[in-house]
Formats: sequence, C-alpha cells, structure tokens
Amino acid sequence: MRKHIVAGNWKMNNGLIQTKSLISDLKKQTKTSDAEVMIAPTFTNLWHAFESTRQDDIEVVAQNMHFSENGAYTGEISAGMLKSIGIKTVILGHSERRAYYNETDQDLAKKVDTALANEMKVIFCFGEELADRKAGNEETVVENQIKNALFHLEADVFKNIILAYEPVWAIGTGETATPDQAQDMHAFIRKTLENTYGNEVADEVSILYGGSVKPNNAKEIFGKPDVDGGLIGGASLNAEDFFAIVNAF
Ligand code: PGA
Repeated sequence: MRKHIVAGNWKMNNGLIQTKSLISDLKKQTKTSDAEVMIAPTFTNLWHAFESTRQDDIEVVAQNMHFSENGAYTGEISAGMLKSIGIKTVILGHSERRAYYNETDQDLAKKVDTALANEMKVIFCFGEELADRKAGNEETVVENQIKNALFHLEADVFKNIILAYEPVWAIGTGETATPDQAQDMHAFIRKTLENTYGNEVADEVSILYGGSVKPNNAKEIFGKPDVDGGLIGGASLNAEDFFAIVNAF
C-alpha cells in the first residue's frame, strides 16, 4: 500500500521566532488521518525544527541541496550536512528552483543520485507551465522531466522516491488543477512508471499533487485514486489550515 503524505513547503518564509511559533501551533493540532506529515523550513531553521519535533509525528525535510558531496561551492548545502542534523528527506526540482536558479533535468539527475547515495529520500517535483498546457503538451513535458532526471535509476530505489506533480500555473496563484486534471496527470505518471519499471514500482510510488491546495479543495483532490497526498506551499504556513489539509484524507 502506498503512503499518503502531506508535506508543507515553507519556502523562504519564517525566521527562527516564527518557526518556533508555527511548530508550537502544529504540535497543538490533532491528526485524524493516516497521512505522513512533513514540513520543510528554510535551512537555517532545520536544526531547531528537527530538535523540537523529535517526539512528534512530523518529519522535517530540506527544500534543496547541492549535488556535490562537499567542496568549493560557496553558499551551498550538501547531503552530508543535512544528514548530520538528522534530515533524511529532501525536496528536489521545485519549479521555483528550475525557474529562478536554472536547475536543469541533468542537474536534478545528479542531485537525485547524491541524495540516494546518502540514503536520503527524495520528493521530486515537476510540472508543466501554462503555455505547455495550452498547447496540449503537458504530458510530453512531464514525461520528459521524469525520464531525464529519474529513469537512469534501478527499480529498487524507487522506494525512496516520492513524486510531486506541480503544474507551474497552479503554484501560488490560487488556481488549482481540477481534481480530474490532477487525476488524469497522476494516472499518466503512474502509467509512465509502469511502462519502464513494471506494475509493482508504479503501484508503490506515492504521487503528491501541489499547487494551491487549500482546506476547501483538499478533500476533493485527495479523493482521486492516484493522488496520494499534497505538497503545500501557502496553506502550510498556518497550522490549522495545514492540518485541515492533512486530515482531508
Ligand atoms: P502553493 O505552493 O500551495 O502556495 O501553491 C505549492 C508549492 O510550491 O509546493
């Protein structure tokens, strides 16, 4: 049975004081669903977040990392550094990283390899832009993003991969993919996995949807058979909203 996962991507929000306060609010919430809960604070607050949620059912994950193990990369963070403070999962390929920092599929393939070599799990993000969808190219774009960054991997490592389909036109825009659009794409992604890796891998990989998921639309989106959870931006900055989404399963 594949897992349900709801991950909050805090992006470049929350200093230490706000991080402490949001975590304390999160701890007051009650989880009534079977979803695994993850939060991704910014690098400087990962250690605090990790330490203060040790006893809780919340996994702290990183928003990014470098593909090298170490070296002369000013301002960068390695997998080993993340692991040294207890972080076991990293988000890679977020559309904001692709758009603003020119991360290519080839860069991401290297980052994925480094994360897996360090026994970390990866939440791998991808998704088409509005122009792709308008041109009817969304499946080709998504297929290429997945294939270029992941399809050099052996089947058995997919247990450490979580996919996150995030149509760029739905991120932070308030415009969500309809539940049917999400389902159609998730089914296509699963089929693409199945064609290369077979049924077993395709059935076991969790595919999250991201892009303006809110308490009022989560239930409908999560109700679709191939949607196994969500990657939540804006709504993850409020503990009640975030847990309303977690509990939408
Ligand atoms: P959003 O962001 O929920 O604010 O649209 C989602 C994401 O970027 O992961």
